[in-house]
Amino acid sequence: MSESTVQDMKLETAYSAVSDLYKGTGIDIHKACREMRQKSPIYEGDFIKQFGVPTNAGMEQSARKNFAVFRYADVMAVLRDASTYTSGFIAKGFGKAFDGGLTILAMDGEQHKSVRTLLQPAFMPATVNKWRERMDEIIRHDYLEKMVSDRKANLMDFALSFPIRIMYTLMGFPEDNPEKFRSYAAWALAMVGGNQIDPKKEQDAMKTALDAGKALYDSIMEIVVTRRAAGSEGDDLIGRLLRCEHEGRVLNDHEVVTFCRMLLPAAGETTTRTLSVVLTLLFETPGLIEEVRADRSLVAKLIDESVRYEPIATFKVREVAKDVEFYGVKVPKGSFIQCMVTSANRDEDVFENPETFDIHRKQKPSFGFGFGPHMCIGQFVAKLELNCAINAILDLFPNVRLDPSMPKPVIEGAQLREAHEVHVIWD
Ligand code: HEM
Repeated sequence: MSESTVQDMKLETAYSAVSDLYKGTGIDIHKACREMRQKSPIYEGDFIKQFGVPTNAGMEQSARKNFAVFRYADVMAVLRDASTYTSGFIAKGFGKAFDGGLTILAMDGEQHKSVRTLLQPAFMPATVNKWRERMDEIIRHDYLEKMVSDRKANLMDFALSFPIRIMYTLMGFPEDNPEKFRSYAAWALAMVGGNQIDPKKEQDAMKTALDAGKALYDSIMEIVVTRRAAGSEGDDLIGRLLRCEHEGRVLNDHEVVTFCRMLLPAAGETTTRTLSVVLTLLFETPGLIEEVRADRSLVAKLIDESVRYEPIATFKVREVAKDVEFYGVKVPKGSFIQCMVTSANRDEDVFENPETFDIHRKQKPSFGFGFGPHMCIGQFVAKLELNCAINAILDLFPNVRLDPSMPKPVIEGAQLREAHEVHVIWD
């Protein structure tokens, strides 16, 4: 794909391409995990392969020994111990499109710790909650209020756009051309699409990913250079990054740009997919929408339980840095270990009636936002966005319900789960 094709890339097409890539063979992942969890909690081999999806390790996966774990305690043990189970390999596979800089997801050890400590304050609830009003305004004014008179919609059109639109503002990108965010969102998705399962497609996909990564890099660099020249002010993310100090020095432009660029794929489609899951469960669970409409304090519980019950990213991979053992099985240094998040979140040893979606259950930590040192830094941003979106849908669309004339939403996908369409009507 040429540079000009990358410039013309459409958000909807890029999203569908990523969904198709990570959807897989159609094997029921919950069933496959339940069987493993109950009978044989360590799998020797590439468990993910049967689903026909690429893993974070990309093509490197086939050259190593692979294992998978399914139980809550095992997934937690791996994700919390980032010195035994490392993430640096991501930079060599899927992460090539992100070409270094502050790609925090693929950092290990002290480097990860110091960068995370530096960035964390910008993502804590005390900071994030100040953005509520602006988020609410974007969601209502730029999107939902314009749709009220239509009295019907596929809510996924909205879900696809608003997370990156919000990130665009939170980062402090210029407001004179906010529509630019659509290209940014498409490029961010193309970067994620670089990780292919079919070797014949890998080269083209990686080229597109690299071109998209470059287009995004150049656009953000232009903004960062302008902002630094203008005095690095502002309470937005770019302003904060330009001013913060790292190991006795301020971050350079390359570091600020690569961190912002990594945030776009991390923050966009993840929130889109999660909203599709939350809405599906909200509309499909008998009596739930009436209950939540009447008591909005339940929106937060609805989100937490959806992220437990149907995490959109079904597993996380780590590289094993020293020989370890699970259930008598030796897992040698250099192996990959697949942590089946979707399984751990339904472990019957930890959750009562785990296969029941119940927003009133006593919440315990689950792994939809990860766990341990790499746990999603943007989780409070995501939860706030989802909370604002759900409240606005309930406020602005009277008696909103599934459209009986359209197919019901179905949550599917082996690696990334979502409902591709959520058709609703209102009075
Ligand atoms: C509902 C939406 C979201 C979901 C389900 C989600 C999920 C995750 C998960 C599972 C991880 C852990 C990755 C690992 O352990 O390897 C992660 C990490 C991360 N997420 Fe999110 N995320 C969401 C939204 C966001 C948002 C809105 C942002 C930014 C504002 C964000 C930024 C990040 C970053 C930077 C990391 C890497 C953290 C690190 O490596 O230390 N995410 N996310």
